[in-house]
Amino acid sequence: MSKSILITGAGTGIGKDTAKKLIARGHTVYATTHFEGEIESLQRELGENAKVFKLDITNPDDRAKVADLDIDVLINNAAQNASGSLADIKIDRLRRLFEVNVFSSLELTQIAIRRMIERGGGTVIFISSLAGRIPEAFVMPYSMTKFAISAAAAGLREEMKVLGKGIHVSVVEPGPYNTGFNQKLVNDQFEWMKKEGSLFTPAQIAARKEKGDRLLRWLEVGSTDTIVDKIVSAAEAAKPRLRYVAPWTFGLLVRLLRIFGV
Ligand SMILES: NC(=O)c1ccc[n+]([C@@H]2O[C@H](COP(=O)([O-])OP(=O)(O)OC[C@H]3O[C@@H](n4cnc5c(N)ncnc54)[C@H](OP(=O)(O)O)[C@@H]3O)[C@@H](O)[C@H]2O)c1
Repeated sequence: MSKSILITGAGTGIGKDTAKKLIARGHTVYATTHFEGEIESLQRELGENAKVFKLDITNPDDRAKVADLDIDVLINNAAQNASGSLADIKIDRLRRLFEVNVFSSLELTQIAIRRMIERGGGTVIFISSLAGRIPEAFVMPYSMTKFAISAAAAGLREEMKVLGKGIHVSVVEPGPYNTGFNQKLVNDQFEWMKKEGSLFTPAQIAARKEKGDRLLRWLEVGSTDTIVDKIVSAAEAAKPRLRYVAPWTFGLLVRLLRIFGV
């Protein structure tokens, strides 16, 4: 059955690839972008089954656009990255990241589910990260937001069961995909830690960057197909599962780390 699906941060990466796949499967997609300037080219690229408009999730006026939309599925995909040491990071930097990755996605969800309830049901999908399940030095600002989103999704799902209005909630946890997002994440810490000073020595900081770069070279998956398939499964399911993970190898790795108490 064709659904009406809104994706945030659909101008690039996993969001854009998901929009393309959903459109190819016959769904109508509200592909929303961070900036006005991206609208025209994205509309051209996605074609007439996409309705492209600006939705900066931190902007209350933009979020309000969703109040009257008839959407069956909301995919909270938009996110930013910030990294560096928790011992040094300016709390305002961390606050800004939570504002985008957690609070704004939750505020958008609150608006969307009210309309879904009026329409008899719907699905909310949060794109979290396996990084939200692995503590790793200097990546925690981002990882903390994803820990929070995974917890929020699981909790909201339980609330929606209590409410009994047909709202399903799922969380999708990708491993590392080569969209440029992770490289920005690795680089971010070094810019501000070098400029603003740190408890850590330049050698310690450089070693972490080297480790981050090396891990990305080894681990990043080139094509987003496997994670896009999971998001599409969650969006199309009559009763979506709580958690979708890809690639499966990373899902297994995280489980093993848990078993061994890492
Ligand atoms: N790539 C990975 O390995 C990986 C792994 C785990 C989880 N994820 C998650 O997957 C999702 C997509 O990431 P990606 O890899 O596809 O990276 P991406 O291409 O950078 O996607 C993030 C999107 O969010 C948009 N965005 C940022 N702030 C926004 C705001 N305030 N309002 C609306 N849109 C905003 C970005 O727009 P601008 O570029 O214009 O700022 C960008 O289009 C994110 O939630 C990320 O945390 C990715």
